[in-house]
Order: sequence, then C-alpha cells, then structure tokens
Amino acid sequence: MSIKINKRIVTIERHILDEQAAFPDASGTLTALLYDMALAAKLISSHTTRAGLADVIGATGTVNVQGEEVQLLDEYAHRTIFQLNDHTGRLCVMGSEEEKDIISIPDKYDCGKYVLLFDPLDGSGNIDYNVSVGTIFSILRRKSESGPGTLEDVLQKGAEIVAAGYIVYGSSTMMVYSTGNGVHGFTLDPGIGEFLLSHPNLRLPQPKFYSANQGYQSRWSEGIQRYTRWLRGEEGNTRSLSLRYIGSMIADIHRNLLGGGVFYYPADTKSPNGKLRMLFEAQPMSFIIEQAGGYASTGRQPILDIQPTALHQRTPLFVGNRELVEKAEEFIARYDGV
Ligand code: AHG
Ligand code: MN
Ligand code: MN
Repeated sequence: MSIKINKRIVTIERHILDEQAAFPDASGTLTALLYDMALAAKLISSHTTRAGLADVIGATGTVNVQGEEVQLLDEYAHRTIFQLNDHTGRLCVMGSEEEKDIISIPDKYDCGKYVLLFDPLDGSGNIDYNVSVGTIFSILRRKSESGPGTLEDVLQKGAEIVAAGYIVYGSSTMMVYSTGNGVHGFTLDPGIGEFLLSHPNLRLPQPKFYSANQGYQSRWSEGIQRYTRWLRGEEGNTRSLSLRYIGSMIADIHRNLLGGGVFYYPADTKSPNGKLRMLFEAQPMSFIIEQAGGYASTGRQPILDIQPTALHQRTPLFVGNRELVEKAEEFIARYDGV
C-alpha cells in the first residue's frame, strides 16, 4: 500500500532557512534568533495551556513599570525569552515590557549585532478567564559600533525593524512572523512539537471587523466617536462592520489579520497617549500588518515613521486594512483639529 501525502509539510525551521536563502550574504544569525523565538514559544505555550492545572495562574504580587499587576506567567515568559537569548552572542541588548530599563547582555557573554524587544505576554490580564494571550517580538540591527548595546540601539523607528513576530496561545498555538518579505503563519502541532506552515503569505482580506473598547467611548474625541459610528454604518457609510473586542490586543489583531478589519486603542481624556506601548506592541504589530498589505497610524501619522524617545512610551494605535485606518485619520483631522 502506498501512502499518499499531498500536502507539503514545511516546518518553521525550514521556512526560516528558505527565507535566508534570498539573502546570499546572510550569516545565519537572524535565522538562529528566530529559531530561538520559536523555541521560547513552545516553552511558553506548554505553560499557558496548563495554566488552569499547574500552579502558574495568578499575580506575583508586584507591579511593573507601567503600574500593572505582574502575573506569574508574565514573569515566566520574560525569563524564558531572556535565558534563551542572553548567551548566544547574537544580541547586544534586549528590552522587555516587564523590565524598567534596557537589559544588558551579561559580561561573561559576547555581544552581537542585533537588538531584541519583546512583550513576554500580551493580554495577560485575561489569563484567569482562559482568553487567548500572546508573545510579541521585534528584532533590529544595532546602531552603536561595538560593546554593550545602548538605549540608542533600542529607540529606533519601526521602519528599521528587520524581523517581527507574534505567538498567539489560543485554541491552537500559532506563530506569525515577517522578515520584510510577507507574513507567514505556523500552527504548533503539539503531537510532534513543531510549528508547521499553515498560513503562507497572509494578506488582509476585505474587512469584516472593528475592534475597540467602546466602554471608553465617552472619553474619546469627537473625531473618534464619529469614526466609530461610521464603522457601524452611520456618518454617511453604506456598510457596517461587526464589532469584536477580546481585550487582548494580540488576539484582536490576529483575528483581524485573518478576517480583515481595524483595531484601535485611541488616546482618551484619561490616557492622553493611549495605553499601548510603542516599542513592545505598536511597532511590531504595525510592521506585521503593513507586511500583510495593511497600515498603522497614531491617527495622525504612520506609526512606523515615529522616532521613539523613551523605552516605555505609549501611543494611540489604529491598525488594520489601509482604507479603514486612513478613514480614522480623516475623521481625526476633520473633527479634532491639530
Ligand atoms: P499587556 O497584557 O501586555 O499589559 O497588554 C494589555 C493590553 C492589550 O493586550 C489590550 O488590547 C489592552 O491592554 C486592553 O485594554 P482595556 O482593558 O483597557 O481595553
Ligand atoms: Mn501587551
Ligand atoms: Mn505584557
């Protein structure tokens, strides 16, 4: 009997290597770094999926630099990513949403040419409710010549990103990444412990969804309130979109990437710069969505063009199908002045 396999199986390792082949001068360092992120993803995934059973749920009793409660799983994810990357000689510095300052490479290890920024666990406030959470990362080339990496190496425009990705720990675990050559999604097969290519060349389809926390609507500017009505088929719009808001950015943007739509977390009267972090959330997700044919904006200018000035700076974020994000810019320019 002959077994017929009609679907080519591509592991994430194979895919990353094939991508590298497009750059004949590549040393393999970036490839190895991406492997390590896939390994971190598997380790974190095995913890998050056991969260209800193992002793990994709950708060650590501390708050992070943003004043948010740190969950045990935030800490586990942060440590896992740090430990897999501190000694490889590939990085000169790291930055994490859970760490106040930039993270130096320990003296005993070599420094390399890349910078790794990460949000160890996005949406971690939802863990107790068994809602999907995720890990987000971006990789940049260092700016400084040599020695330990500096804040200047970390504070770069999103347009300088070399590779970015995220892992969503949902009903299945998926890793999605881009090295600037489209966006590719992999699903973890828990039976064999491998990420297999399941979503090659992701492109945003025609939009179906809009996602925002409408509980805060009364704090939004007139432009944003009118924009939201437009998304609902008012303000002269002949179409309406469905509202979906999980409250876990990674899951909200992932759904919109597959189904089409816009996610926004605007500034409001309580949070004049919005909530999401420029370096750990907005830049990498914007890079990925733009690689999938979309667009990301603060509401007034492209996210990827902004030069960050602080490690934990926040930004308003509108991200998704280009025409929907540009519509937000239009409403804000028309109704909210300069
Ligand atoms: P994190 O868990 O990394 O701190 O991020 C939480 C963020 C993001 O995932 C989500 O979109 C947003 O917080 C939800 O905020 P609201 O509860 O204010 O809607
Ligand atoms: Mn986050
Ligand atoms: Mn986080």
